[in-house]
Amino acid sequence: MTEAEIREFWDRHPCGESFVGGLAQHSGDYEAFFADYDRFRYALEAHIPKCLDGIDFKGRRVLEIGLGQGADSEQIIRRGALWSGLDLTPESVARVRTRLSLRGLPHEAVRQGSVLQIPFDDESFDIVFSHGVLHHVPDIRAAQREIRRVLRPRGELIVMLYARWSLNYLLSIGVLRRLGLLALYGFGGAPSGKVRDHLENARAHGIWNYLRMANFIHRNTDGPFNPYSKVYDLRGVRADFADFEVVEAYKRFMHAPPLPVAGLPLERLLGWHLWVHMRPRTGVA
Ligand SMILES: C[S@@+](CC[C@H](N)C(=O)[O-])C[C@H]1O[C@@H](n2cnc3c(N)ncnc32)[C@H](O)[C@@H]1O
Repeated sequence: MTEAEIREFWDRHPCGESFVGGLAQHSGDYEAFFADYDRFRYALEAHIPKCLDGIDFKGRRVLEIGLGQGADSEQIIRRGALWSGLDLTPESVARVRTRLSLRGLPHEAVRQGSVLQIPFDDESFDIVFSHGVLHHVPDIRAAQREIRRVLRPRGELIVMLYARWSLNYLLSIGVLRRLGLLALYGFGGAPSGKVRDHLENARAHGIWNYLRMANFIHRNTDGPFNPYSKVYDLRGVRADFADFEVVEAYKRFMHAPPLPVAGLPLERLLGWHLWVHMRPRTGVA
């Protein structure tokens, strides 16, 4: 799979917008769209602002990689960061620039480009923050080398990655959704929406091939057309982020659709979002 395919996917499906009806359904009114989007996001993922409160952004040079609608960008800037942003897609960059200018948010630079070739100088940031992005980058080992390059030696990388040891991966995606799709496939039903898209994918790729977890995981995280996703435990993090050492990790967000698990007090054990704080290893070129 090429980076061009990945860029095309995210450009066509701007992160999370379908949950609030998309920009088009807000008649192109960016302010109304951003307000709805942020309300939805922080109601569903109320842990995000709390996690951000635990990070000392004030006066630090921060690079955010993978911006989506720029909701967290705004939160980080409001917490006093000297913020720059990078996204693969022109659509996200345009939206984030619009948000920053509509709301008068101070920042350094917003650039379009890839984490595989970060358009910033060596050792120019105190923090690199990336929420829900690096598990979508197939060449993660090259990506982490680039991040290491732009971080100052005592800098910090803070990421959110999908968690392997989560109710969502183990039960919802791993068992329920696969069984459900298999049943519908056999039954020959023609439901609408995402389920229909999954059935079409299954017909195109072959049902057993489509249901293999190595394939199914891509299509069950950010929609049935998502080309690539990976889930992580700390062993996987240490293997893929070899230029870093893990200093802190915690799981948040009870989320395992279609199961109604929001609010279950199990997020530290089986939450879907694995936050990891890392420091560059010394002695790595
Ligand atoms: C799932 S969204 C997450 C956005 C935001 N951080 C959030 O939590 O809502 C993934 C974002 O990462 C961007 N992205 C994907 N691959 C990338 C890459 N190689 N380099 C930079 N950005 C990338 C996509 O364009 C998209 O905006």
